Amino acid sequence: METGRVKRFYQEGFFSQDRLEVRGGRPLEGSVAIGGAKNSVLKLMAACLLTEGTFTIRNVPDIDDVSAMAGVLRAMGAAVSRADDALTIERPAAVNPEAPYMLTEQLRASTAVLGPLLAGVGHARVSLPGGDDFGPRPIDMHIAGLEAIGCRFEMSGGDVYATADNLVGDSVLLEFPSVGATENVMMAAVRAKGTTVIDNAAREPEIADLAGFLNQMGGQVTGAGTSTIIVEGVEELCPVEYTAVSDRIEAATFLAALGTAGGEITLVGARPDHMAMLCRKLGEMGVRTSSDLDGMWAMSPKRLQSADVSTLPYPGLPTDCKPLLVAMLSVAEGVGIVTENLFSGRFRYVDELVRMGADIRTESHHAVIRGVERLSGAPVRASDIRAGAALVVAGLAADGVTTVSDPHHIDRGYESFAGKLSALGADVRRVRPGDSPRPADRRAGPMVRPPTGSHPSPPDGPAMLPKPSQG
Ligand code: EPU
Repeated sequence: METGRVKRFYQEGFFSQDRLEVRGGRPLEGSVAIGGAKNSVLKLMAACLLTEGTFTIRNVPDIDDVSAMAGVLRAMGAAVSRADDALTIERPAAVNPEAPYMLTEQLRASTAVLGPLLAGVGHARVSLPGGDDFGPRPIDMHIAGLEAIGCRFEMSGGDVYATADNLVGDSVLLEFPSVGATENVMMAAVRAKGTTVIDNAAREPEIADLAGFLNQMGGQVTGAGTSTIIVEGVEELCPVEYTAVSDRIEAATFLAALGTAGGEITLVGARPDHMAMLCRKLGEMGVRTSSDLDGMWAMSPKRLQSADVSTLPYPGLPTDCKPLLVAMLSVAEGVGIVTENLFSGRFRYVDELVRMGADIRTESHHAVIRGVERLSGAPVRASDIRAGAALVVAGLAADGVTTVSDPHHIDRGYESFAGKLSALGADVRRVRPGDSPRPADRRAGPMVRPPTGSHPSPPDGPAMLPKPSQG
């Protein structure tokens, strides 16, 4: 779907009338395929702006954020199309290096075009996307890092005007290991004259994936995945075919669902080596995980144990996992303290969990969670991607029906979330205006798996409107 249509649908409320209905009480069983990492794919797409030609990115999830980034690239003159999980991006010789507010407000990651535009075109105008539901999202570190290698910036009317007549490698010391700043500097430095050394760089697997992409294009990036990244500038880059790394946060989401629902699952394509800290915490909570030929195997106990959790940059516990862990701790035995160290406002979904019967107190960037035995289904609202997923995860441990409204937040980051959970045996379905309610579901009580085909509409379809696509 073209980005303007996505925006109109949001504004006119088409998506907001959908909701996810979750009926708890069923253990998960079976296999689920984990897709490519949203937070890598969006940057790989931006990196295609570095040079003319046709790129293919495989293992691309069919999610709304990818559609939104496709809209940003199309507005610059690129052609973007999808076939199965492969995205083809044709970057023309000349691009219009502008990302207006209409596009950037839908996708904060659109600031990732700054570095590639400066290196590939020499100038850019990118509208600042503003904050979001879990706090301010400044780009001062992106700017400081890019300035260190010769970019110049001016701000006016909410837009960043950037030029780079002469990119020259230098030392870049980041104040904080920001994912976005590390990526933007890497993507610009790849075409600078000489060597750029990025210190205090972010170490996320998605950074290493981007370095792999840049190196395949002919770049010379070493050290990605450590705190010091060295980029030797090159004169020429070429388009490539590349397969994106597996999404560790999608995998974490299914592990959290397993934690609240119980059961035993295999996460096909997951990378447990990218989830070591999470697996350690899950182990403390009683969830067993191990590497598997297919990816990863996991089994959950009848009841989770509480644990203390603190988010940190990779290899620490990801902030994106925190809402999922809070949902798990809500039904664990004991008291868990959760500390958020990355995003100031990332506790807004807590009120929704409290409406479901969770016992959670928040104070500044801490939350104290006293586990209860069961939650009770309630209407709740998703406020961002991970908060929305966490409410569904909580619904799996609730009596009765949990109705999650605003699932368009979840669609931004998860392909067929309800469908994948249903395939594991959970009772989760997407309800659209006009769907008839299921008669037997109004009461709490023991759940019996319905015979195949008993849903009035399948978990993720049929849609009232077509799902956004790259076509
Ligand atoms: N920060 C600044 N100035 C900057 C950049 C960041 O103050 O110039 C601050 C941020 O406000 C935040 C902290 O530094 O407090 C970390 O921000 P970072 O730059 O590392 O995050 P990001 O690049 O904006 C990515 C992911 C997020 C994920 C964070 C942290 C993408 C598209 N987004 O954001 O993912 O939470 O790293 O790991 O890669 C999500 O997937 O739902 C999501 C929000």
